[in-house]
Amino acid sequence: MAGVTLRNLTKAFKNVIAVKNVNLEIHDKEFLVLVGPSGCGKTTALRMIAGLEEVTEGEIYIGDRLVNDVSPKDRDIAMVFQNYALYPHMTVYENMAFGLKLRRTLKPGKSPVAAALLGWLVPRAFYDFIPKDEIRRRVEATSKMLGLDGRLNRKPKELSGGERQRVALGRAIVREPKVFLMDEPLSNLDAKLRVQTRAELIKLHRRLGITTIYVTHDQVEAMTMGDRIAVMNDGVIQQVDTPLNLYNHPANRFVAGFIGSPAMNFVDALVEPRDGGLYFKADGFSVKAPSEKADALAPYTGKHVVLGIRPEDIFDKTMCPIAVTPDNTVEAVVDVIEPMGDRSHLSLRVGGTSLIANVDAETSAQEDSKLPVVFDMSKSHAFDKDTDRAIY
Ligand SMILES: Nc1ncnc2c1ncn2[C@@H]1O[C@H](COP(=O)(O)OP(=O)(O)O)[C@@H](O)[C@H]1O
Ligand SMILES: [Mg+2]
Repeated sequence: MAGVTLRNLTKAFKNVIAVKNVNLEIHDKEFLVLVGPSGCGKTTALRMIAGLEEVTEGEIYIGDRLVNDVSPKDRDIAMVFQNYALYPHMTVYENMAFGLKLRRTLKPGKSPVAAALLGWLVPRAFYDFIPKDEIRRRVEATSKMLGLDGRLNRKPKELSGGERQRVALGRAIVREPKVFLMDEPLSNLDAKLRVQTRAELIKLHRRLGITTIYVTHDQVEAMTMGDRIAVMNDGVIQQVDTPLNLYNHPANRFVAGFIGSPAMNFVDALVEPRDGGLYFKADGFSVKAPSEKADALAPYTGKHVVLGIRPEDIFDKTMCPIAVTPDNTVEAVVDVIEPMGDRSHLSLRVGGTSLIANVDAETSAQEDSKLPVVFDMSKSHAFDKDTDRAIY
């Protein structure tokens, strides 16, 4: 078992810096999700940890061992890719056993030079291999755990997409690695299977307790799977925290907009003092900042900031669980209603401001009609316009 530490990790390709000075500590047995939009450097970071990509600057530790110069096969990691290539002519059993059959360690007392020269001719004179019985034991135990025990003699083309994905996972599990690296392993599955396999992966992680770094661009996957989530943008780690802390306390506007769906509303607003409190004056409405945030917001008095309010924190006034006051009520016009079943997404307009609200489907809202809505300001956020950093 081992944690993974990235220190000032940087990767430069010819004209792109894909990973910029990343510092990240993944704890032993942790399931850490690295999430961010396409092209932000996730795969590059993972490939450096795997040893498939040379490090430009910085250090990678697996446990206490600096592995920058350790070859991929000696890093005690197993990687599952998005495009898991199974060997088409091999059975499930052979696909899972293949890597183990090849794995060898130099016999004690044998010289590596002699092994390099003659090892290809008489490998068993120089190397120890994993015994056949042990390989069988591992493949059988793993296939049982993954529900593949009835499929061991089939070829990949005789399997469903989900089963093939599980074989790819199994191939990684039988290696009994210290660390799992997974790069969008579910993105080739259809939506239903993805949700199922997501749950299976979480259960598997609980059972095996192997440190896992899981890369995805899907914030729902990140939120549901991660013990902690590292949000990345443009090669830079933006914030590392538990799913709930990221949702409730985003450190900057990028994280606020990336985590949560539909995305948080951002509204340009002037911070205005009135009646002993601070108000956000936006185009078409004015709402009061929570009094417990007044200290944080005070330096911005008379300046423009970005008010953040999540769609689920905007309520239809007629069915609102929080106290309704003139300070949190906004007269909106409903442009579009998107029914989602138990919820409805409303596209709202207030003056020149557009907002999305995620309300109970029983809403009285009608398209092209007025609808008073209430902001739960205790859940609001504010961001510095210049730095995008959270003010509160
Ligand atoms: N081998 C490479 N040569 C040049 N640029 C690359 C190479 N691999 C990745 N990049 C660039 O590095 C950036 C990050 O890519 P990648 O790590 O694949 O992102 P992600 O996995 O988050 O989608 C992108 O701009 C990509 O074009
Ligand atoms: Mg990628």
